[in-house]
Amino acid sequence: MAKLAKLDDIVSLCKRRGFIFQSSEIYGGLASCYDYGPLGVELKNNVRKAWWKAVVQMRDDIVGLDCSILMHPMVWKASGHADKFADLIAECKKCNVRTRVDHLKDKFDETAEEHTEHVPIDAVQVNDLSSKICPACGTVGQFTEPMAFKLMFETQMGANVDDTMKTFLRPETAQGIFANFRNVLDSTRVKIPFGIAQIGKSFRNEVTTKAFIFRTREFEQAEIEFFCEPGTDEEWFEHWKNERFNWYTNLGIKRENLHFREHDRDELAHYAKACVDVEYRFPFGSGDWQELEGIANRTDYDLRQHQRGMRTMNRWYEENGDLDKIELLDEPDDYVKGPLSYFDDINKKRYIPYVIEPSAGIDRSTLAFLVDAYDEDEVRGEKRNLLRFHPALAPTKAAVFPLVKKDGMPEAAHKICSELKKHFTCFYDEKGAVGRRYRRQDEAGTPFCITVDGQTREDNTVTVRERDSMDQVRVTTDQLLKHLRQRLDI
Ligand code: GAP
Repeated sequence: MAKLAKLDDIVSLCKRRGFIFQSSEIYGGLASCYDYGPLGVELKNNVRKAWWKAVVQMRDDIVGLDCSILMHPMVWKASGHADKFADLIAECKKCNVRTRVDHLKDKFDETAEEHTEHVPIDAVQVNDLSSKICPACGTVGQFTEPMAFKLMFETQMGANVDDTMKTFLRPETAQGIFANFRNVLDSTRVKIPFGIAQIGKSFRNEVTTKAFIFRTREFEQAEIEFFCEPGTDEEWFEHWKNERFNWYTNLGIKRENLHFREHDRDELAHYAKACVDVEYRFPFGSGDWQELEGIANRTDYDLRQHQRGMRTMNRWYEENGDLDKIELLDEPDDYVKGPLSYFDDINKKRYIPYVIEPSAGIDRSTLAFLVDAYDEDEVRGEKRNLLRFHPALAPTKAAVFPLVKKDGMPEAAHKICSELKKHFTCFYDEKGAVGRRYRRQDEAGTPFCITVDGQTREDNTVTVRERDSMDQVRVTTDQLLKHLRQRLDI
């Protein structure tokens, strides 16, 4: 129970301090859609930046991409999403609410809840639903036969009746990477092994949402498709497991709140050779541990599927774009020489690369960073709420206060704040007692507060107070930027 209270505390802090708001709140809100407020947008930008820095900027073997959200419908036929990206659901006959079959609690075993992401529908075990409980009305065992519910949002493209086309909001960013594999090969000097990284919005008409920004219908993904030679894939899979686990812990996630969960054989998609989730101990759900990121060895499946898709384009025209009437053509025997193959000019070998895919959620990581940073302690008998963010993630890096609103202190503080703003986010505050101002910054996760006081005029020093320890040191104004930069590691 204490853990559930913690998520409530975070939700209320997020609203109170402008991290995250319910979307369209003035109209009663839109379920499972959220807006990032002034502090939230800085935090989320910093999560994106930290990911991009680690996987693109700091590596020589990964390039970035930013693909359009709307793609040719055949992309989704080839990837399998148009036919198979669905959840198996059942409808309660009493209240008509539909629930994912794999998320239904059992009256004999209430732990079977919301632990999984989408499972291939042929892999969902449809056991007897007679002891399952409807989460909406509590009725037991009154469900329809399970049915597939498609998760992609459909949309119509174009204004003319003759040439409008049904397409989809992308449910993952990965397919944009596969569709550009050839373009990247032809326009850059990348050589296998190499990866392509992308951050962007994805959309899924989720059946089960809940838990704040954990599972929403519009969300942001950060995905890498790492292309390697078949036979080296297991090594790269291990590499990416370590890299991605360390990314979270390097940014402050406590080691004991993070673990790997290997997928069981029957959970794996038929083409996947291995899959592991990085799970975080979120403060909700019966199992606590929930997926933060998936890392999969997808073999050569995706590129081969797109080669089949490209071969099927004539059928798409013949059927006027009706995906339901189209079957993908089979691969030719020499598919390894296809348009999405790779030629290794040193070993004079052509092959379809294998792919290791680390796929993270920016919103879900942001929630994990918030949960992990949240803390309460006591200062002189008063409760202190604080967010112990890693400096790279902190929305505001420093706050500058004049001790009082006179004797030139506001002017001096403004000057310091303007100088620091050239280098990182900085906030000026002169309202209320200085202790209150410290508390407000602790709650926003600001690592340093700088106070201009009476002594500043005499010796050009200010106090620098550190958020976690609350230790204070005096630093000369000409050394202030250097002092903060060293501690912020930026
Ligand atoms: N291309 C592989 C793929 O999309 P996934 O496990 O479905 O794999 C990857 O999604 C990550 O995207 C998840 O681990 C999660 O962090 C994030 N994610 C997926 N669905 C989400 C949703 N409805 N809301 C928020 N984040 C989501």
